Formats: sequence, C-alpha cells, structure tokens
Amino acid sequence: RDPSSAMGRKEVVREELGSLHGIPLYKDFVEGWPQVEAFQARPDDLLIATYPKSGTTWLSEILDMIYHDGDVEKCRRDAIFNRVPFLEMKAPQLPSGIELLEKTPSPRLVKTHLPVQLLPTSFQEKNCKVIYMARNPKDVVISYYYFYQMAKIHPDPGTLAEFLEAFMAGKVAYGSWYQHVRGWWEKKQEKQLLYLFYEDMKKDPRREVQKILQFLGKEVDEETVSRILHHTSFQEMKKNPAANYETMPSTLMDHSLSPFLRKGISGDWKNHFTVAQNERFDQHYQEHMAGSDLCFQMEA
Ligand code: A3P
Repeated sequence: RDPSSAMGRKEVVREELGSLHGIPLYKDFVEGWPQVEAFQARPDDLLIATYPKSGTTWLSEILDMIYHDGDVEKCRRDAIFNRVPFLEMKAPQLPSGIELLEKTPSPRLVKTHLPVQLLPTSFQEKNCKVIYMARNPKDVVISYYYFYQMAKIHPDPGTLAEFLEAFMAGKVAYGSWYQHVRGWWEKKQEKQLLYLFYEDMKKDPRREVQKILQFLGKEVDEETVSRILHHTSFQEMKKNPAANYETMPSTLMDHSLSPFLRKGISGDWKNHFTVAQNERFDQHYQEHMAGSDLCFQMEA
C-alpha cells in the first residue's frame, strides 16, 4: 500500500470516467463543474483550447514566453500547470483550476480541453481571445495512449487495439476528437479565434509564432523570437522542470511509465499502427470529416 494513504491523503486510483453533458470526463472534474460553468472570465484573459495531447503545453510555454518578453528566468518562476491554470481541473492534493485562476494576476493565460459547446459563457460575453491548436488524430491517439498509462487519473487503456476503438468511438476523456476539432473550427469565423496546427508548428515554428504575435497585436524583435523558439524547443522543454511536468506528484503522473514530453514528433503513429488499423482509421476519418474543409497533415 502507498504510505501516503495511511497518512490520510486521498490516493489516486484508476477509475472509470464520468460524464459531463454526454462527454466522458474524469469524475473529479464533473464534480467541480458548477464552479467552472459559473467562471467569470476577464476581458484580457487569453484562452488556450485544445483536444488533449495536441501540443497544449508547448503552446502554453510559447505564450508565457511571449507574455514575459522572452525572459527565460521569469518563465521558470513556477511549473507550467501553475503558470497557465487548467480551467476545469480538479484533483485530490492539488488546487483546482478555478482556485489557481482566482489567484492569478491579469493578463491571465487559461488552458482548457473543453469542447466548444461546453465553454463557460463568460468567455464569449467578455469577448476573450482564443488560440486553438489541433493535431492529426493518429498522433493524438498514440500520444493519448501513453498518457493514459502515465497519468493515473485515467482508466486502464487496455491494449493499443482496444484504445484505438475507444478513441474512434469517442469513449475517451473529452469525447470525440472529430467533434472537438470540427466544433472549434466552426467558431473560427470569429475574429477572436486563431486556429493553429501542431504540424505547422513543427514545420515552421517561427512563422507560427509570428502568427500568434500578430493575433495578439504584439511586436517582438527577431532576437527575442529566436530566444522564445529555443526555450520552447522539445529538447529544452524536456529538460526544464518548469515545463516537463516532473514536479507533479508521482501519485498523479508516473514519468517512468512514459515521460510527459515523450517524442514530440509528427508521424509517430507509423511506428504503432498496423496496416489494417491504418486502413480502418482512414476509412473512419473520411466518414467523420465528410463535409468539412478542415484538413490534417498526418506526417511531417
Ligand atoms: P508525444 O506524446 O507525441 O510526444 P499536450 O501538452 O497537449 O498534452 O500534448 C503533449 C504532446 O505534445 C506530447 O506528444 C509532447 O511530447 C508534445 N510536446 C510537448 N512539448 C513539445 C515541443 N516543445 N515540441 C514538440 N512537441 C511537444
């Protein structure tokens, strides 16, 4: 037995997902939902929205660097999950996202994985800017499979074949990837939303950072942009305790099972999918993306 439980602390045990308005979600998050739904955004909040495993932490580090004019030391002030609070997060032993946000001075960066239809209305009412980042679903499902193993808030993912089926059926935390990326894509018409892709960020991070700067109406010199790009590279983030999640209690995340910053590449699915799984996935993808002009690059 874990000695921490003898000391009266709630142990994290794998548990089946609950449901939030039909979206599969961790039971602790569902329990905290009333506070999230009533959340009061501030007009200068910037929302970082993603489906899990799509580059949220990468984008968060980039934005914190932009918000601190490329000052690396300031961006080491705390762990990324405290610098950019996770709106709907609630877990034993940790302050909730809402509690963290209340203590965060403006202008705040706010992280969420909520599908667009569940976003608290306050963000829209206050006309907050949103940056959404999407990643191709084959790499997302592989990344998610490893994350399910290391982050104990998740149910047991089973075999990769089983997890692939669950993902395609939308029976994983945050539900259908298709509905998520399409729902946010439809909101893109609005001026306040910048829609980015992980694959573009891999290919030409400088161009993507320039897009972000333009969206924020911020001017930053080339040297600072270079510093931002260096500090937010996979190699730098992987060894940075303020960015790599290693300061999370090990009862919640076990990096020995799989590190949070795992590979950071596009196309890793090729090392995992069988030919048959890939064919089935492609077919399913085509059916579920039909009628949308949203396109994904499945590799770099
Ligand atoms: P892999 O598991 O494919 O390596 P999120 O932050 O949304 O949970 O996404 C995690 C994924 O983003 C992981 O993917 C992680 O390695 C990758 N990632 C994190 N920082 C990155 C960076 N600086 N460059 C590229 N990928 C990064």
